[in-house]
Amino acid sequence: MNMDVNPNPTNPAGLSTPDIPAEFIPRHIALVMDGNGRWAQERGMPRTEGHKRGEAVLMDAVDACLAMGVPYLSAYAFSTENWRRTASEVRFLMGFNRDVLRRQRDMLHEKGVRVVWLGRRPRLWRSVIRELEAAEELTRNNTTMTLGLCINYGGRAELVDAARKIARDAADGKIVPERISEELLAQYLYDPGMPDVDLFLRPSGEKRTSNFLIWQSAYAEMVYQDKLFPDFTHEDMFAAIEEYARRDRRFGGTK
Ligand code: FPP
Repeated sequence: MNMDVNPNPTNPAGLSTPDIPAEFIPRHIALVMDGNGRWAQERGMPRTEGHKRGEAVLMDAVDACLAMGVPYLSAYAFSTENWRRTASEVRFLMGFNRDVLRRQRDMLHEKGVRVVWLGRRPRLWRSVIRELEAAEELTRNNTTMTLGLCINYGGRAELVDAARKIARDAADGKIVPERISEELLAQYLYDPGMPDVDLFLRPSGEKRTSNFLIWQSAYAEMVYQDKLFPDFTHEDMFAAIEEYARRDRRFGGTK
Protein backbone atom coordinates (compact mmCIF):
# COMPACT_ATOMS: atom_id res chain seq x y z
CA MET A 1 0.00 0.00 0.00
CA ASN A 2 1.38 3.42 -0.96
CA MET A 3 0.57 5.79 1.89
CA ASP A 4 1.43 8.85 -0.25
CA VAL A 5 -1.35 8.02 -2.65
CA ASN A 6 -3.78 6.56 -0.16
CA PRO A 7 -3.67 8.09 3.29
CA ASN A 8 -7.00 6.51 4.30
CA PRO A 9 -6.43 3.16 6.03
CA THR A 10 -10.08 2.21 5.65
CA ASN A 11 -9.84 2.67 1.89
CA PRO A 12 -6.77 0.53 1.17
CA ALA A 13 -7.47 0.35 -2.55
CA GLY A 14 -7.86 4.15 -2.78
CA LEU A 15 -11.25 3.85 -4.49
CA SER A 16 -13.14 7.00 -5.33
CA THR A 17 -16.37 6.67 -3.40
CA PRO A 18 -19.84 8.21 -3.73
CA ASP A 19 -20.83 10.66 -1.04
CA ILE A 20 -23.47 8.97 1.12
CA PRO A 21 -24.32 10.10 4.67
CA ALA A 22 -23.24 7.55 7.30
CA GLU A 23 -26.82 6.91 8.42
CA PHE A 24 -27.64 5.49 4.96
CA ILE A 25 -24.72 3.08 4.84
CA PRO A 26 -25.89 -0.53 5.34
CA ARG A 27 -24.50 -2.20 8.45
CA HIS A 28 -24.61 -5.60 6.82
CA ILE A 29 -24.54 -6.58 3.15
CA ALA A 30 -25.36 -10.15 2.14
CA LEU A 31 -23.74 -10.92 -1.21
CA VAL A 32 -24.79 -13.82 -3.46
CA MET A 33 -21.82 -14.56 -5.71
CA ASP A 34 -23.61 -16.39 -8.51
CA GLY A 35 -23.47 -16.39 -12.27
CA ASN A 36 -19.92 -17.73 -12.45
CA GLY A 37 -21.00 -20.86 -14.29
CA ARG A 38 -23.20 -18.93 -16.72
CA TRP A 39 -20.41 -16.41 -17.34
CA ALA A 40 -17.97 -19.19 -18.24
CA GLN A 41 -20.44 -21.14 -20.36
CA GLU A 42 -21.30 -18.02 -22.39
CA ARG A 43 -17.60 -17.91 -23.29
CA GLY A 44 -17.26 -21.59 -24.06
CA MET A 45 -15.14 -22.14 -20.93
CA PRO A 46 -15.60 -24.71 -18.16
CA ARG A 47 -17.78 -23.45 -15.27
CA THR A 48 -14.77 -23.51 -12.95
CA GLU A 49 -13.17 -20.63 -14.91
CA GLY A 50 -16.03 -18.42 -13.74
CA HIS A 51 -15.48 -19.38 -10.12
CA LYS A 52 -11.77 -18.58 -10.48
CA ARG A 53 -12.64 -15.02 -11.55
CA GLY A 54 -14.77 -14.69 -8.43
CA GLU A 55 -11.78 -14.55 -6.10
CA ALA A 56 -10.53 -11.13 -7.29
CA VAL A 57 -14.11 -9.90 -7.58
CA LEU A 58 -14.81 -10.76 -3.95
CA MET A 59 -11.64 -8.97 -2.82
CA ASP A 60 -12.74 -5.91 -4.82
CA ALA A 61 -16.14 -6.09 -3.07
CA VAL A 62 -14.35 -6.18 0.30
CA ASP A 63 -12.34 -3.08 -0.69
CA ALA A 64 -15.58 -1.36 -1.70
CA CYS A 65 -17.15 -2.12 1.70
CA LEU A 66 -14.02 -0.95 3.52
CA ALA A 67 -14.03 2.29 1.53
CA MET A 68 -17.72 2.91 2.31
CA GLY A 69 -17.47 1.99 5.99
CA VAL A 70 -19.76 -1.05 5.73
CA PRO A 71 -18.98 -2.99 8.90
CA TYR A 72 -20.24 -6.46 7.85
CA LEU A 73 -20.20 -8.28 4.52
CA SER A 74 -21.38 -11.88 4.17
CA ALA A 75 -20.45 -13.84 1.06
CA TYR A 76 -22.27 -17.00 -0.05
CA ALA A 77 -19.42 -19.23 -1.20
CA PHE A 78 -20.91 -22.73 -0.88
CA SER A 79 -24.43 -23.66 0.16
CA THR A 80 -25.75 -26.81 1.82
CA GLU A 81 -27.51 -27.39 -1.53
CA ASN A 82 -24.33 -27.07 -3.61
CA TRP A 83 -23.44 -30.72 -2.80
CA ARG A 84 -25.98 -31.56 -5.53
CA ARG A 85 -23.55 -30.35 -8.20
CA THR A 86 -21.35 -32.76 -10.13
CA ALA A 87 -18.64 -34.45 -8.09
CA SER A 88 -15.96 -32.68 -10.11
CA GLU A 89 -17.44 -29.20 -9.52
CA VAL A 90 -17.84 -29.91 -5.80
CA ARG A 91 -14.24 -31.09 -5.66
CA PHE A 92 -13.11 -27.96 -7.48
CA LEU A 93 -15.10 -25.67 -5.18
CA MET A 94 -13.75 -27.33 -2.03
CA GLY A 95 -10.13 -27.03 -3.19
CA PHE A 96 -10.79 -23.52 -4.45
CA ASN A 97 -12.25 -22.33 -1.15
CA ARG A 98 -9.26 -23.77 0.68
CA ASP A 99 -6.79 -22.09 -1.69
CA VAL A 100 -8.57 -18.71 -1.70
CA LEU A 101 -8.45 -18.66 2.09
CA ARG A 102 -4.78 -19.52 2.08
CA ARG A 103 -3.99 -16.90 -0.58
CA GLN A 104 -6.08 -14.03 0.82
CA ARG A 105 -5.82 -14.50 4.58
CA ASP A 106 -2.79 -12.25 5.14
CA MET A 107 -4.09 -9.50 2.86
CA LEU A 108 -7.45 -9.50 4.65
CA HIS A 109 -5.62 -9.35 7.97
CA GLU A 110 -3.49 -6.38 6.82
CA LYS A 111 -6.69 -4.55 5.92
CA GLY A 112 -8.11 -5.08 9.39
CA VAL A 113 -10.76 -7.55 8.25
CA ARG A 114 -12.05 -10.10 10.76
CA VAL A 115 -12.97 -13.37 9.06
CA VAL A 116 -15.86 -15.40 10.44
CA TRP A 117 -17.05 -18.75 9.10
CA LEU A 118 -20.74 -19.53 8.97
CA GLY A 119 -21.73 -23.06 8.09
CA ARG A 120 -21.90 -26.72 9.00
CA ARG A 121 -18.96 -28.98 9.70
CA PRO A 122 -20.28 -32.34 8.46
CA ARG A 123 -19.23 -33.12 4.85
CA LEU A 124 -17.02 -30.03 4.58
CA TRP A 125 -13.45 -30.92 3.63
CA ARG A 126 -11.16 -30.98 6.64
CA SER A 127 -8.60 -28.84 4.80
CA VAL A 128 -11.26 -26.16 4.24
CA ILE A 129 -12.19 -26.19 7.94
CA ARG A 130 -8.51 -25.92 8.83
CA GLU A 131 -8.04 -22.85 6.60
CA LEU A 132 -11.24 -21.26 7.90
CA GLU A 133 -10.15 -21.74 11.49
CA ALA A 134 -6.66 -20.41 10.73
CA ALA A 135 -8.16 -17.30 9.11
CA GLU A 136 -10.53 -16.81 12.04
CA GLU A 137 -7.71 -17.18 14.53
CA LEU A 138 -5.37 -14.79 12.68
CA THR A 139 -8.00 -12.06 12.27
CA ARG A 140 -10.06 -12.47 15.45
CA ASN A 141 -9.07 -9.10 16.96
CA ASN A 142 -9.56 -7.03 13.80
CA THR A 143 -12.23 -4.38 14.02
CA THR A 144 -12.34 -2.50 10.71
CA MET A 145 -14.82 -4.84 9.09
CA THR A 146 -16.13 -8.41 9.34
CA LEU A 147 -16.22 -10.77 6.37
CA GLY A 148 -18.65 -13.62 6.96
CA LEU A 149 -17.70 -16.55 4.77
CA CYS A 150 -20.72 -18.76 4.29
CA ILE A 151 -19.35 -22.17 3.36
CA ASN A 152 -21.53 -25.28 3.66
CA TYR A 153 -24.09 -22.75 4.79
CA GLY A 154 -27.88 -22.90 4.58
CA GLY A 155 -30.35 -20.58 6.29
CA ARG A 156 -32.64 -23.46 7.23
CA ALA A 157 -29.70 -25.57 8.40
CA GLU A 158 -28.61 -22.66 10.60
CA LEU A 159 -32.08 -22.51 12.20
CA VAL A 160 -32.16 -26.31 12.65
CA ASP A 161 -28.73 -26.17 14.31
CA ALA A 162 -29.94 -23.35 16.58
CA ALA A 163 -33.08 -25.36 17.46
CA ARG A 164 -30.93 -28.36 18.39
CA LYS A 165 -28.72 -26.29 20.67
CA ILE A 166 -31.72 -24.61 22.29
CA ALA A 167 -33.41 -27.99 22.84
CA ARG A 168 -30.22 -29.31 24.42
CA ASP A 169 -30.00 -26.32 26.76
CA ALA A 170 -33.69 -26.63 27.61
CA ALA A 171 -33.26 -30.33 28.38
CA ASP A 172 -30.31 -29.43 30.61
CA GLY A 173 -32.52 -26.92 32.44
CA LYS A 174 -30.44 -23.95 31.27
CA ILE A 175 -33.39 -22.23 29.56
CA VAL A 176 -37.14 -22.22 30.07
CA PRO A 177 -39.14 -22.69 26.83
CA GLU A 178 -41.40 -19.71 27.66
CA ARG A 179 -38.31 -17.51 27.75
CA ILE A 180 -37.34 -18.27 24.15
CA SER A 181 -37.51 -14.97 22.30
CA GLU A 182 -36.22 -13.63 18.99
CA GLU A 183 -33.22 -12.18 20.83
CA LEU A 184 -32.44 -15.50 22.50
CA LEU A 185 -32.79 -17.46 19.26
CA ALA A 186 -30.39 -15.04 17.55
CA GLN A 187 -27.82 -15.87 20.22
CA TYR A 188 -27.81 -19.47 18.94
CA LEU A 189 -27.05 -18.61 15.32
CA TYR A 190 -23.58 -19.21 13.84
CA ASP A 191 -22.37 -15.66 14.56
CA PRO A 192 -24.46 -14.28 17.42
CA GLY A 193 -22.95 -10.81 16.97
CA MET A 194 -24.01 -10.55 13.34
CA PRO A 195 -26.24 -7.53 12.66
CA ASP A 196 -29.43 -7.99 10.64
CA VAL A 197 -28.90 -7.82 6.90
CA ASP A 198 -29.76 -4.33 5.61
CA LEU A 199 -28.89 -4.91 1.96
CA PHE A 200 -29.35 -8.29 0.27
CA LEU A 201 -27.44 -8.03 -2.99
CA ARG A 202 -27.72 -10.50 -5.85
CA PRO A 203 -25.79 -8.92 -8.73
CA SER A 204 -26.61 -11.70 -11.22
CA GLY A 205 -30.27 -10.68 -11.37
CA GLU A 206 -31.75 -13.98 -10.16
CA LYS A 207 -34.62 -12.91 -7.92
CA ARG A 208 -34.54 -15.35 -5.05
CA THR A 209 -32.87 -15.64 -1.69
CA SER A 210 -31.69 -19.26 -2.18
CA ASN A 211 -31.72 -20.07 1.54
CA PHE A 212 -29.16 -17.35 2.36
CA LEU A 213 -29.33 -15.68 5.80
CA ILE A 214 -33.10 -16.07 5.90
CA TRP A 215 -33.47 -15.15 9.58
CA GLN A 216 -31.13 -12.16 9.37
CA SER A 217 -32.70 -10.89 6.12
CA ALA A 218 -36.29 -10.64 7.43
CA TYR A 219 -36.34 -6.90 6.70
CA ALA A 220 -33.49 -6.62 4.23
CA GLU A 221 -33.75 -4.43 1.16
CA MET A 222 -33.33 -6.61 -1.92
CA VAL A 223 -31.17 -5.27 -4.73
CA TYR A 224 -30.77 -7.14 -8.01
CA GLN A 225 -28.53 -6.06 -10.84
CA ASP A 226 -27.67 -7.48 -14.26
CA LYS A 227 -24.07 -8.50 -13.67
CA LEU A 228 -22.87 -12.08 -13.52
CA PHE A 229 -20.47 -12.25 -10.57
CA PRO A 230 -17.21 -12.32 -12.60
CA ASP A 231 -18.22 -8.94 -14.11
CA PHE A 232 -19.21 -7.37 -10.76
CA THR A 233 -17.04 -4.40 -9.72
CA HIS A 234 -16.70 -2.05 -6.77
CA GLU A 235 -18.69 0.49 -8.83
CA ASP A 236 -21.59 -1.99 -8.87
CA MET A 237 -21.26 -2.32 -5.10
CA PHE A 238 -21.37 1.49 -4.77
CA ALA A 239 -24.44 1.59 -7.07
CA ALA A 240 -26.17 -1.02 -4.87
CA ILE A 241 -25.42 1.01 -1.74
CA GLU A 242 -26.73 4.16 -3.44
CA GLU A 243 -29.93 2.32 -4.35
CA TYR A 244 -30.23 1.08 -0.76
CA ALA A 245 -29.74 4.63 0.54
CA ARG A 246 -32.71 5.80 -1.55
CA ARG A 247 -35.07 3.13 -0.18
CA ASP A 248 -37.81 4.05 2.26
CA ARG A 249 -37.53 1.59 5.16
CA ARG A 250 -40.50 1.30 7.51
CA PHE A 251 -40.02 -2.12 9.18
CA GLY A 252 -43.77 -2.75 9.17
CA GLY A 253 -44.58 0.63 10.73
CA THR A 254 -45.51 3.95 9.19
CA LYS A 255 -43.46 7.09 8.68
C1 FPP B 1 -22.74 -20.12 -7.30
O1 FPP B 1 -23.04 -19.71 -8.54
C2 FPP B 1 -21.37 -19.79 -6.89
C3 FPP B 1 -20.60 -20.59 -6.15
C4 FPP B 1 -21.11 -21.89 -5.65
C5 FPP B 1 -19.19 -20.27 -5.80
C6 FPP B 1 -18.87 -18.86 -5.44
C7 FPP B 1 -17.49 -18.77 -4.92
C8 FPP B 1 -16.60 -17.81 -5.21
C9 FPP B 1 -16.89 -16.70 -6.13
C10 FPP B 1 -15.23 -17.84 -4.61
C11 FPP B 1 -15.08 -17.11 -3.35
C12 FPP B 1 -14.27 -17.87 -2.41
C13 FPP B 1 -14.28 -17.77 -1.05
C14 FPP B 1 -13.37 -18.58 -0.22
C15 FPP B 1 -15.19 -16.89 -0.33
P1 FPP B 1 -22.73 -20.32 -9.99
O2 FPP B 1 -21.71 -19.50 -10.60
O3 FPP B 1 -22.47 -21.74 -9.89
O4 FPP B 1 -24.08 -19.97 -10.64
P2 FPP B 1 -24.74 -20.19 -12.05
O5 FPP B 1 -24.79 -21.65 -12.28
O6 FPP B 1 -26.04 -19.54 -11.75
O7 FPP B 1 -23.98 -19.45 -13.09
